[in-house]
Amino acid sequence: MWCGGAPHRGPPDQSSVTAFPASIQWCLVSELDLILLGPPGAGKGTQAQRLQEDFQVPFISTGDMLRSNVKEGTDLGQHADKYMKAGDLVPDGLIVAMVAERLHEEDALDGFILDGFPRTIEQAKALDKQLSELGRRVTAALLIDVPDEEVIKRLSGRRVCVKSGHNYHVDYDPPKHEGVCDQDGSRLIRRDDDDPEVISNRLRVYHDQTSPLIDYFDEQGVMRRIDGTRDAAEVHDHIRAVIATLRLEDNF
Ligand code: AP5
Ligand code: MG
Repeated sequence: MWCGGAPHRGPPDQSSVTAFPASIQWCLVSELDLILLGPPGAGKGTQAQRLQEDFQVPFISTGDMLRSNVKEGTDLGQHADKYMKAGDLVPDGLIVAMVAERLHEEDALDGFILDGFPRTIEQAKALDKQLSELGRRVTAALLIDVPDEEVIKRLSGRRVCVKSGHNYHVDYDPPKHEGVCDQDGSRLIRRDDDDPEVISNRLRVYHDQTSPLIDYFDEQGVMRRIDGTRDAAEVHDHIRAVIATLRLEDNF
């Protein structure tokens, strides 16, 4: 992770690292490459926004990227729209190419928080390959665990700012004024895929196609489980504690 001066790239170079005091070495040795995993409505976007401020690395949400493409009517957006409306996964080839391009942007070179990617074993393998070509690897996959009944409550009450994408919930996290974003005064809407039938399908897709990633990252030794049923501030504190522990263990 980068803290100032000429940024370090790739695996730690021990000869140059040992020339710095311990506090500075900590900044130079490695990127913070985080994955947020979990069912729809687990709070991945809510936590990613907070973590982005803590760690100064970009929050990359494939769902948000796809929604922008749909809004702008790009070829990718036109292709993805039908899958998203049904709550199905957009084909791996399209997603992998979109993420690969994004991870090459300057701001992602020192780390990232991925929300909603990978979502299949195929996508996870493609990410591993891309990172290993850059001399990097996933630092941690954080599973925000929430049962299906809670997902349904959260998604049924979610409202999203049309402009900035800030998340609210009519009961758990209501805006100060109904239907209006606290941050920029824009209109709050319900997402197209937060319809009850689509929510059921998204859950089915998560259990069938995405949950196998839990074993995949467990085998790599990078899986960390977070109880996502606690309130958002407690979940955030737990994630920060997990990352602090990883830093002590792995010195990144
Ligand atoms: P995407 O946008 O990624 O949706 P998702 O995974 O279904 O997750 P959500 O964004 O619905 O939930 P979240 O976990 O971010 O929860 P949030 O913080 O909003 O993907 C959408 C679609 O794009 C997919 O269905 C697919 O078609 C396509 N797609 C995207 N990525 C893809 C990929 N890699 N491959 C293929 N296709 C892909 O919180 C939810 C609500 O709960 C909010 O109202 C919030 O205020 C509230 N809340 C949050 N935390 C708490 C808490 N701790 N307690 C109480 N309430 C809380
Ligand atoms: Mg989200």
